[in-house]
This record gives sequence, structure tokens and C-alpha cells, in this order.
Amino acid sequence: MKTWTREERYRVLKDPEEIRPLHDRIVASPYRQTYHIQPVTGLLNDPNGFGYHDGLWHLFYQWCPWGAVHGLKYWYHVTSTDLITWKNEGVCVKPDTEWDNKGAYSGSALAGHGSLYLYYTGNHRDSDWTRKSYTCLVRLGEDGTAQKAEAPLFGPNPDYTEHQRDPKIIHDPVTQRYYILLGAQRKDRTGCCLVYTSKEPFSGWSFLGELKVPGFEDFGDMWECPSIEQINGQDILLFCPQHLTIPGRGNARNHNGYLIGHMDYETLTFTPIGRFHVLDRGFDSYAAECAATIHHNKDRAILIAWMGLPDAVYPTDDEDWSGCLTLPRVLRMRGRRLIQTPIEELKLLRGDVVPQDAKTLPRACDLELHCGGQDMELHLFTRDGGRGGFIISYDHEHQLFTVDRSHMKRRFNNGEGEVRKRVLENGLQQLRIFIDHSSIEIFVNDGDAVFTSRIFPKEGETGYQLSGDAMMKAWQMRPAVRDDFVI
Ligand code: FRU
Repeated sequence: MKTWTREERYRVLKDPEEIRPLHDRIVASPYRQTYHIQPVTGLLNDPNGFGYHDGLWHLFYQWCPWGAVHGLKYWYHVTSTDLITWKNEGVCVKPDTEWDNKGAYSGSALAGHGSLYLYYTGNHRDSDWTRKSYTCLVRLGEDGTAQKAEAPLFGPNPDYTEHQRDPKIIHDPVTQRYYILLGAQRKDRTGCCLVYTSKEPFSGWSFLGELKVPGFEDFGDMWECPSIEQINGQDILLFCPQHLTIPGRGNARNHNGYLIGHMDYETLTFTPIGRFHVLDRGFDSYAAECAATIHHNKDRAILIAWMGLPDAVYPTDDEDWSGCLTLPRVLRMRGRRLIQTPIEELKLLRGDVVPQDAKTLPRACDLELHCGGQDMELHLFTRDGGRGGFIISYDHEHQLFTVDRSHMKRRFNNGEGEVRKRVLENGLQQLRIFIDHSSIEIFVNDGDAVFTSRIFPKEGETGYQLSGDAMMKAWQMRPAVRDDFVI
């Protein structure tokens, strides 16, 4: 594995030509995706500034141009008219001011007010490398350029450690005020969420206090990417608590999950109903963000996440690129449960139906399985004679659904665990599975649970076998992202 010096990681990109050879090399990788957003070069992590404005979906990702390393971060911009086909627009927010000199870190979008407004963390480092976080504002110009406000909206809060970041902008119709949530760390090294408020979105911000979340005062040592979404009158607090283990999730120490409950901005309290749920039951998912739309859609939100994890290494690191984003998912409430389904429009990407007697599946495909509820097994990416592969199974007696990636030739991040299980109280009825060149997303029972995983099949891992109580239909998926070199 390559080791990077600080100078290499934090090198400023001056001329796109500096990374063209890198781009030319990585586009030849067999692991490049064909309908998932992926980095033009280097590393992609969190989705940022996801929003709809003037007929177009805008999305940005945390981007380090130089390789699979967390270094100087930019916001790279992609757009779409339909949430399935995406166009590379180039770099938008650059770390080019004093307050973001070591990175334009994650943040969110506000739709309306004549443009899309982007709120991000300016990651500043002093010459002795002390970190200071600033909450910064950008207006997205008509030509896609970032029009930065002259000064940050506010600076670091001295009562917390240097870990304060990831502004989520919210407008609350009850108090008629704007709020910014920040992920933060208390001085006793516990994670929390800070709340700032203003009557109007572009100035006048002041610190309101810490968000009270009864029962979660000591839950991880930092909360990254917090947000509150309202769906069907129910509030959902989404966040990424770090450095804690959760039963059933191996040694994984960073999680993306949510609490369902009630948010009261007057008392600054989020009262959870029930426990913390992991957003994605699979392996590689983090830093999810929901889209900002002008019209508050009360019965759903659209979510996209980083298909990757902090502190993890991936096989394409050696090719100098890593990370991609999940497919957009619709969040809804079904009773007291949060449901995630792939956006409907994805069906438009379906091409030819795969013949029932095919021995292999296309590398990019959409699978639909109808399951009778008895035992079933689906082995994907099997080798000669049906050995190995990525195994999805259901055990009727224990109502247990299992995803096991330990039999693939190329194993990675084993410490995170290679098997994930979930009891399905209502049995197994249905599966929808999206496979791209280096990912698999499994939606169980119309969104009751999602299991996302990166996969890196080697030569010869091309077969599949279905047995037991399930019928499968498969479609080839048409490409929807282009590997254009736009910087
Ligand atoms: C989450 C995160 C954010 C931060 C960004 C930096 O993955 O650590 O907290 O803003 O990534 O790239």
C-alpha cells in the first residue's frame, strides 16, 4: 500500500492536466461503475449539497484528486434531470481561502431563494496544524461556479474539541427559523450535535445550544453528518456516531444510523422513540444525505450515501481511486418503520432480460426475486462448479436472512465482519438486487432492510446459482454515468 506524505495529500490542484494521466489510467479498471456516481480520479467520500433547483438535481461529492487518500478535499459537482443519469460538471467548491485552506469539508444545500445555496465546513489548519472549523456559505452561480460569501457564517465553538463539522441547513415551519446542525465532539470525548439558528438563511447566525437526545448522551466519540428529516409527520435524526461497536456489526467502529422520534426546536430536544437503527445493514455505507427540495415533500425524502467507510482500505486503492455513491433511495414511513426503496426511475435503465437458462449474469444488472418464504439461497459471482461467491440466503426456521461475502476470492476490510444477518419478522417475500461492476445493493421486502456492499470479483467469478423457494427475473442495466474528464 502506498504511503503518502502530508505534502502529497494536501497538494493543491492547479491544472487539470496534472491528473489527466491518472484519469486515463483508472477508466480502464474493470471495477469502474456504470450506473453509480464515482470519482473522476482519486478518492470520493461523502455526498454533499444534494438538492433540486430549477429543473435539475445537483449533487457534490467530497473529492481528493490525487489518489485513494483523505487529503485536501474539494466539492466535485454532478447533475441530473432524472436522478439516474449523471453528468460530470467539474470542481465546484475549492479550498482556496484562509478559512478552508486545508479542505472544503461536507455540508448540505438549501433550495429556493433563486439558487442553490451550499453550506460547508471550511477545514482550516494553522501553521502548527491546529484545526479550526468554519461554517461557510456558497451560492451556486448559473454557470455552476461557486460564489463564496466574503466571510464564514460562524467560526469554531471554543467549548468543544476541534471536531465540529458538516452543517445541515434546516428551515422549521413552526418556529419560522433556520437551523444549522453540526456534528461535534464534547471535551470529554463524547459525540453530540450543535445547533445554530438565524431568522434568515444567509446571516445573523448564533449558537443556540447542544441538541438534547435523551438516552444518547454517551454514544460514540464524535457524531458526523447529522440531519433531521420529517417524513409523514415523524422526525428522523440521522447521524454517524464514531468509534463504538454495535452488536452484529463485527469490529466496525463507524456507523450511519437513525433515531425515529420528535424534534422540538423550542426546547432543543429530540425525543427518540425506540432504539438506534443502522441505516444500511450491509458493509459499506456512510455519511448519508437527504436532498433539499423547494417544496417540502411530506411523505418521502431522497437519500444517497457514500458506499465506503472511514479508515477502510479497498482493492482499487492501488489503482489510485476509491469510493462511489449508493443509488438514490426513497425514505418513507411504514407504520413506525423507516422504509428505503430504490427510486422508481431506475427501471428506465433496464435493458434486455437475461434468459432463464443463462449461466452468468451481466456485470451490471437489476434482479427481482419473488420468494415463497421457505429456505432459499442465491450464490452470485461463483467460480467453476458453483464454488465460492457472494452468498445471500434465507433460513425459514429461524426467519434469518444472511449476506456473506467471505467466500469471494478478493476479501477486504475483514475486520468489519464479512457476514451480516437480520431476522425478518414477516418472512422473506421479495428481493431487489442491483449489481454494478464493484457494488451490490440488496433491498429486502420492499425496503424493510438494505444491505450494501462493495465487491471486487476476480477473473472467473462469473457464475450464479439460485436454489430453494424463489423465482428470479434479471435485466441488464444500461450505463448511466460517463467517465468524462471534466475538472
Ligand atoms: C465523514 C467526514 C466528514 C467530513 C468529511 C471530510 O466521512 O469525515 O465529517 O466533513 O468526511 O472529507
